[in-house]
Amino acid sequence: MVSDISRRGVLQGAVALGTLGYGGQAYADRAAIAVQKDYQASKPMTPYIGTPTSRVDGRAKVTGAAKYAGEFNATGLAYGSVVTSSIAKGRIARIDASEALRVDGMLDVFTHQNRPRMASTDSAYRDDVAPEGSPFRPLYDDRILFSGQPIALVVAEEPEIARFAASLVRVGYDEEAHVTDVYRQRNEAIPLEAPAKPAENPFAPPKPRGAAEKAFAAAEVRHQGEYYVPIEHHNPMEMYASTVIWDGGGKLTVYDKTQGVQNVQRYVCSVFDMKPDDVRVMSPFMGGGFGSGLRPQYQVALAVLAARALERSVRLVLTRQQMYVLGYRPAMIQRIELGAKAGGTLDAITHEAITVTSKYEAFHRQETAWSGLLYKCANAKYAHKLARLDLPTSCDMRCPSAATGVYALECAMDELAVALKLDPLELRLRCYSDRDQNADRPYSSKGLRDCYRQGAEAFGWDKRIPQPRSMRDGNDLVGWGMATGIWEALQMPIAVRIVLSANGHAEVSCATSDIGTGTYTIMTQVAADMLGLPLDSVTIKLGDSTLPQSPVEGGSWIAASVSNGIATTSDAVRKELLRLAKQMPNSPLADAAPDAVVLADGKLVSKRDASRAVSIADAMRHSAVDRIEQEKSTTFADDGSHAHNTHSALFVEVKVDEQLGVIRVTRVVSAVAAGRILNTKTAHSQIMGSVVWGIGMALHEETLVDHKFGRIMNANIAEYHVPVNADVHDIKVIFVDEPDEIINPLGIKGLGEIGIVGVAAAIANAIYHATGKRVRDLPITLDKLQR
Ligand code: MOS
Repeated sequence: MVSDISRRGVLQGAVALGTLGYGGQAYADRAAIAVQKDYQASKPMTPYIGTPTSRVDGRAKVTGAAKYAGEFNATGLAYGSVVTSSIAKGRIARIDASEALRVDGMLDVFTHQNRPRMASTDSAYRDDVAPEGSPFRPLYDDRILFSGQPIALVVAEEPEIARFAASLVRVGYDEEAHVTDVYRQRNEAIPLEAPAKPAENPFAPPKPRGAAEKAFAAAEVRHQGEYYVPIEHHNPMEMYASTVIWDGGGKLTVYDKTQGVQNVQRYVCSVFDMKPDDVRVMSPFMGGGFGSGLRPQYQVALAVLAARALERSVRLVLTRQQMYVLGYRPAMIQRIELGAKAGGTLDAITHEAITVTSKYEAFHRQETAWSGLLYKCANAKYAHKLARLDLPTSCDMRCPSAATGVYALECAMDELAVALKLDPLELRLRCYSDRDQNADRPYSSKGLRDCYRQGAEAFGWDKRIPQPRSMRDGNDLVGWGMATGIWEALQMPIAVRIVLSANGHAEVSCATSDIGTGTYTIMTQVAADMLGLPLDSVTIKLGDSTLPQSPVEGGSWIAASVSNGIATTSDAVRKELLRLAKQMPNSPLADAAPDAVVLADGKLVSKRDASRAVSIADAMRHSAVDRIEQEKSTTFADDGSHAHNTHSALFVEVKVDEQLGVIRVTRVVSAVAAGRILNTKTAHSQIMGSVVWGIGMALHEETLVDHKFGRIMNANIAEYHVPVNADVHDIKVIFVDEPDEIINPLGIKGLGEIGIVGVAAAIANAIYHATGKRVRDLPITLDKLQR
């Protein structure tokens, strides 16, 4: 077992996650933690922060030098292949591996019948970000909870042998009736009640304000609509994989595809009753996660199980099809009611959501709260129900709750604008709120007005002809639509270690992951600025559970957290250097206060008098010190007095072939307010990628379940459609200037997720403008348009 102390640490981490979490409205309960603001004194010269710096790991990635979880090697490596359930619910009646075991090169077949000992309590399987419930336990017993569930692990000398032998495992089931259709479960959906203490469930809907029903009934103009988002899957390029290296004596090094190495490390220790020192989890590179890698996935448990049983190294790579049980964006039915005055101000907002989760865990986020937060409105009411299905547990997927909740809200706002005969942008401006409407407090910064203005100008919105079907280009109907985006700007406790050597090289380490977003690069930029070194004198180490503490990389919180963490530790390094510099005879910095010097060009320099300087090398050599090592934790004080959010404005042009119904998204302008932008090149790519995903959400993506069998029908990226190059046309990204002196000393908000919010709504609204037809269930395919 993990010691009590570290277990408590996990739970505290989980609570912190929840309290600060997605769409979290539980601000009142946030503990105010002392912030370490020492480094504010040493504002960087910033030659790198804010520049379009190319990825420092770009060369390693394109040359193949960057290794991913399924690529690490070991002598005597064995290979696993998973057998999965073909039924959605019931029990395994018998499992016969005899034929599989006779195949040449076979090592073993593990099932619930012969598996080694595993923990028997729910808490042992509950990872840092687990929702309430009983986490899935791979190979634990004969119960089948979902189709595609792993029920046997075949291990062989070669991957092909394992895969072939897996096809020979015979399984008999006692089947039970299942339900996988959210519409069938709609009336059985369970309401989420607001808990007594928000910390108990920060994702429960917020308290209502005013009297929304009455205000809606009395409103001069009303809109109500039901919006549907199907199950969607993350589909990262890299397959989920774990390579477990048997280091001897029961020690394991686990190369795992994950967004949180320390989360996986604690999980493995607790499930297999291992000592923390015996498990090291590494994930130096990740080919996309998008939320699917926040929780430990089953392949890591199976690979560890096999490595321990066989006492040799084991690799397990899932197939694309198998990855469709690792979590998904929950399907959801949303109802929105908007009541307004004829002048275009809001009187009432009601947002109800029914979202999908499994029978065994209650995953949900705060889909409905965005509606009450964003626009000025005295009356708001929310309801959220869970539809529990015989599917795996749903999970976070890029901008969970906002991508979907704001989709419904922003389509409804467009429909309200039509009812009001008002330009949709003008409606947003009339409802604009400088305060967080749910908690009635100001934002630490809110550049949304600038997003509207700059976005509209870049798009040419003022040339829009309001009437649907009034704009044409040859055979195509042209439509222009817009929407607002919003997301939380979160930050989490984190620790960073810096080792500075006398030759002017710094190694910066933190257990965080780089899930492909460019964390290596921004960490290099920030450290170079803070330490006054060139980029190539900084090396980043991350994705290793033995490094200083980091939360999972998610929620767009790592850029802000780790950057301020680097600043904190850099400050400690600078102070130590100054202490050494003062010991030099006739030191030019003899009476300099720590805050009166900065690090620049490899030197400690007086801020007042640049001629007073001591080089890093001289300061360290004089004291015969060859390395300075500092490790500091950074926390982020939040007294709840300000809301921290990122915002965006989306402007979209679609062209719809009138005869065929084919839709093309020909132009997108995304104007984003996300605080200080660390790297304009990778940030631009982030937003572009998000917009492309938004095109997928609007037009292509849908996981199809055959409800008769409770089985996903299109578990591959040939039949699960995502945008391809031909679907992607002109995308313009604008970052508006949004200084934020309050949120954290560096003014960083993070932008991994904001880019997708509002895209699908803006496209849906543009399609309405082009065709006069309102399709409220995603994806908007041509058959729905022609219906
Ligand atoms: Mo993100 S959905 O927190 O990886």
